[in-house]
Amino acid sequence: MSTERALPESAPYPYVLLSAAVSLDGCLDDTGPERLLLSGPADFDRVDAVRASADALLVGAGTLRADNPRLLVASAERRADRLARGMPEYPLKVTVTGTGDLDPGARFWHTGGDKLVYTTDRGAAKAVRLIGGAADVVALGPELDWRALLGHLRAERGVRRLMVEGGAAVHTQLLQQGLADELHLAVAPLIVGDPAAPRLFGPGRYQEGRLRLVESRRIEDVVLMRYEPTAPGAGPVPTAADRHWLRTACELAALCPPSETAFSVGAVVVAADGTELARGHSREGADPVVHAEEAALAKTGPADPRLPGATVYSSLEPCARRASRPAPCAELILRAGVRRVVTAWREPDTFVVAADGTGVLTGAGAEVLVLPEYEALAKAPNRHLPGRSGAPS
Ligand SMILES: NC(=O)c1ccc[n+]([C@@H]2O[C@H](COP(=O)([O-])OP(=O)(O)OC[C@H]3O[C@@H](n4cnc5c(N)ncnc54)[C@H](OP(=O)(O)O)[C@@H]3O)[C@@H](O)[C@H]2O)c1
Repeated sequence: MSTERALPESAPYPYVLLSAAVSLDGCLDDTGPERLLLSGPADFDRVDAVRASADALLVGAGTLRADNPRLLVASAERRADRLARGMPEYPLKVTVTGTGDLDPGARFWHTGGDKLVYTTDRGAAKAVRLIGGAADVVALGPELDWRALLGHLRAERGVRRLMVEGGAAVHTQLLQQGLADELHLAVAPLIVGDPAAPRLFGPGRYQEGRLRLVESRRIEDVVLMRYEPTAPGAGPVPTAADRHWLRTACELAALCPPSETAFSVGAVVVAADGTELARGHSREGADPVVHAEEAALAKTGPADPRLPGATVYSSLEPCARRASRPAPCAELILRAGVRRVVTAWREPDTFVVAADGTGVLTGAGAEVLVLPEYEALAKAPNRHLPGRSGAPS
């Protein structure tokens, strides 16, 4: 399976891939002075390939201090391939520090390509003093805000794919804040047993329910598992899982039988714990006029207690008015008790002028998120509507 997943070009953040190796008791390391080697040569080579696919590699300052990593792409062939693809030979190396307490002698600063330090207002002066000649230092304000960091990496450094290699504090925050698109976990057959050893994920609030297992693979005596988060975000700020589900809705739209008189739309209903409750697309089955959200909601039990906490993902904003049925989709969503909708594309005037499904939903207290980075994907199956306002030309 390809490891080269990506977000749309216009996404505000990079695709964030967390990568770690752990012992059977979930430790990232032991407490000895040397770094604990959890993987073998074949798994290190796999990690090297993932590094080579990334625009940037990030580790926390704690890992710099504990492991003194170089964080390079070791394979000359992979570096040559990056250059051939117009990428820098080495990915940008990134670290985060609140204190600015960085060792200027660390190997991180003296190997590979460009380096970047994200810090706070408090840590900036010290970081500049210690390693200012070796790296760019960016202060993100009184606190280090991960969304601001990811937005800066995307907007200012062009990073589309970020590989995060720990440690515990960094992985924990990114997963808890719904910012991880994917987790690569290599489980090694050894047990550390030391209560003071660092654990991959610290205590705190994580997504409810289960992550999606995308792949499992044996690599010598290590098992690689790849997971994706599944639980929708809880408020107005989209999470990585929100983006994944909206992409699924957009992909469902491609299944619609084409029509000259209606849009092709896909929809998914997802419970708060990440369980998919139902999916649908326009004109599915034998119903030539059914809408995607209507088709999906019809597959849920009307008394399903998960609906009030669920999110509806729809490639096109739910309709506010329609001739083919008594109730528009915005109304059906409200009647089902759903209070959160994520969509890619506001409805253009193609068939209904000034349709405002978002207004209907928000007017009744529901939350609507529009993620315009998926608009092109949502429009793609509607290309057969040439010359219609809002349809792609
Ligand atoms: N097995 C593996 O795959 C793997 C991979 C990587 C690391 N590790 C292990 O993980 C351990 C290190 O983990 P760790 O949790 O101690 O360190 P870490 O996550 O690498 O770094 C934590 C440090 O990063 C900075 N930081 C993180 N979040 C911040 C925020 N929101 N605001 C400001 N600064 C922030 C702080 O630096 P300052 O203290 O400078 O303020 C903090 O102390 C080591 O034992 C290492 O061997 C294992």
